[in-house]
Amino acid sequence: MTMKKRNEAPAEQTEGQLTRRRLLTWLSSVGIFGSALISLVANAFFIKPRATYGQPNRFSIGKPEEFPAGTRQALDGQRVCVIREGERVCAISTTCTHLGCIVAPSETGFACPCHGSRFDQDGNVTGGPAPKALAWYKVSLAPNGELEIDKGVEVKSGTYFNV
Ligand code: FES
Repeated sequence: MTMKKRNEAPAEQTEGQLTRRRLLTWLSSVGIFGSALISLVANAFFIKPRATYGQPNRFSIGKPEEFPAGTRQALDGQRVCVIREGERVCAISTTCTHLGCIVAPSETGFACPCHGSRFDQDGNVTGGPAPKALAWYKVSLAPNGELEIDKGVEVKSGTYFNV
């Protein structure tokens, strides 16, 4: 009479357990390596700077001769108005100081279409809700001979650049 050990499983069951064990090992490995890979990708994604750069504050607008005496030209893309009087050039902001609409040159200076603010030729408020005058920006001559406006540098009203 042969006695079977209590914990001894039949051969088929042992193979089944091994297969199940291998499957669980494989699934665990995939889970561990998969989550490690995902965390690496996520960290790389967050480490990369996500800065967006808007328009530059300093930009060229062209040669001085492109702005003959008497020019009063609004550059809406840059939100400035270039004014040339004789041999002097200035750049006045066309961003309304009320809520930021773009003001347009008018016969008396500048007019805002949004809430009716009015500015004189130098950008001083003459009417409407605008709380302060339009900004004047630094104008200079770049090494390539083009006029350059720096919106990062406000200058006193009435400050012209001599070309
Ligand atoms: S935004 Fe110009 S008047 Fe309001």
